[in-house]
Formats: sequence, C-alpha cells, structure tokens
Amino acid sequence: MARKIIIDTDPGQDDAVAILLALASPELDVLGITCVAGNVPLPLTARNARIICELAGRRDVAVLAGCERPLVRPLVTAEHVHGKTGLDGIALPDPVMALTPGHAVDFLIETIRREPEGSVTLCPIGPLTNIATAFRQAPDIVGRLAEVVLMGGAYFAVGNITPAAEFNIYVDPEAADIVFGSGVPLVVMPLDVTHKALTTRARVEAFRALGTRVGHAVASWTDFFERFDMAKYGSDGAPLHDPCTIAYLLKPELFSGRHINVAIETKGAFTLGMTVADWWRVTGRTANAMFIGDIDAEGFYALLTERIGRL
Ligand code: BDR
Ligand code: CA
Repeated sequence: MARKIIIDTDPGQDDAVAILLALASPELDVLGITCVAGNVPLPLTARNARIICELAGRRDVAVLAGCERPLVRPLVTAEHVHGKTGLDGIALPDPVMALTPGHAVDFLIETIRREPEGSVTLCPIGPLTNIATAFRQAPDIVGRLAEVVLMGGAYFAVGNITPAAEFNIYVDPEAADIVFGSGVPLVVMPLDVTHKALTTRARVEAFRALGTRVGHAVASWTDFFERFDMAKYGSDGAPLHDPCTIAYLLKPELFSGRHINVAIETKGAFTLGMTVADWWRVTGRTANAMFIGDIDAEGFYALLTERIGRL
C-alpha cells in the first residue's frame, strides 16, 4: 500500500521538484499539499503549489493555504534566491484549479485524526509554522503520525541565510522549537546533506534530455536558481534541497545519519535559528532526531531523473 504523506511547502523551485517527485512516485499517496509563507509570501506559495500540480496533470490534489506569517516574528522571504514569483525560471500558465477551502492547519489536524494511527507522514519543506500551529492546537496528533521528514537546519555546513542558520529554521525558530521538542519521530535533511548533492551541467541536462514539458521545467528552474549558489559558494552547481526528503521516503538506503539531540536556538544574538546538533554526543541530551549527514548523490539524481521522466 502507498505511504500516505502531506507535503507542507513554500514553493520555491526546489520545493517544486520535491512535489513533482512525490506525485511521480506510486509508492506515495499525497493526501494534500499545505502551503506556508516562506520563500515568498503565502498568496504566491499557494499559487505556485497549484501551478506545480497542474504541470504534473494533477488538478485533483488538495492544496490549502496556511499561515501567512511566522508565530512571533515578521516574515523573512528569499526572492534573492527564488525570484519575484518564487518560481522564476520558466513562464507557466496561471493555475485553473482552486485552492481547497479551509485552513491548512485544520486540514492537517483533521486528516491526521481521520487516517489510521501511525499511517501519515509529514514532509515539511518550508518554515515550520503550519506544523507547529497544528501541534499546539491539537497535541493528540503528534502521537498519531508515522514520522516527520523535514528539510531544514545545518550543522557542519552552518548557515545559508545567516552565518549560523538555515533558511527554513531561521524564518520561524519558535515553530521549529515546538516541532523538535514535540517528541514526534523526526528525520532531518540539513544543508550538510543537500550540499553533497549539487546539480552539475550533466545532471541538469539529463532533466532537459527527457524531452518532456516537466523535464524542461525542472531544468529551467534549476538553471535559474543555480546562479545564486554558484556565485555565493564558487561551486559548479547548486544544492537541490527539498527533494531529498521525498527521496528518503522512496530510497532511505541513499542516506545515512545519526540519531542525536538537535536543539533550536531561539535567543542568540548571532545564532538565531541555528540547529545545535549534538553530532558527537557530548551533551547527554536525549536524542530527538535522525540527523542525516550523507547522501549517495549519483543514486539521488538517478532516482530523480527517472521519476521526473514518468510525468
Ligand atoms: C530551504 O530554503 C528554501 O529557500 C528552500 O526551498 C529550502 O527549503 C533551503 O535552505
Ligand atoms: Ca522550501
């Protein structure tokens, strides 16, 4: 039976590739896509999620709008990486499908309560505002989840939005603190992993060579957002962060990590949003997350290209 997942997202080109990977994979049953403010404001993330579903030929997927700002802080966005729309790189038609009525947080709570206990996995690939709000409003859902597999944080790779913090955690550190402290089984894909799976010319051209509309879109998005990281890091390609979460659900053997304690910095003057990962197990604090540290990059891109080719 297909594994039931809900993708919580702020698309974003790499979010888009993650969503496409999930929709292309028969092992996964996407119960819904919940949108949050992050890379761009909520109206754009909710629009982009529907553009992506339509590109995949999936107008049937439930897409809901959620929280428009972090729990206690003003929203920080990343147009400097993802462009004005959040999905710059290729012009795609405005979505025809409507948003599913209701709030994403209510959808999360109702779906997790309705589905059999232990059957739903959450895949947050944006700031954790929707997830933390749902956990706060309905603590009973925490124990009903199979697991949460999220993209966020960094340890050896430190930060991307500040010297110490990764974007998704930095935007809403209080929300991240709630999720990491909730006791839910957690798998974390930090920058340490995503920076080991950079796009290369050959990898991008492999998407284009699929000769499909979706392959062309993925190559164009990647071409667009690569420029920022290549200039910043002086690398030959860019990390494709968010699809790592979906790839983990499909092929966990591509990844390795450690079950350790990860604490969220919510007060530091210079380190706000840092994921303080006890990789060397020096604190004695209880492990709360499988913190992934390594990836088989060739295997990851082979999987991604093959699946994108199915759409
Ligand atoms: C994360 O931040 C966003 O810009 C990306 O979509 C990804 O989820 C990487 O730090
Ligand atoms: Ca994202």
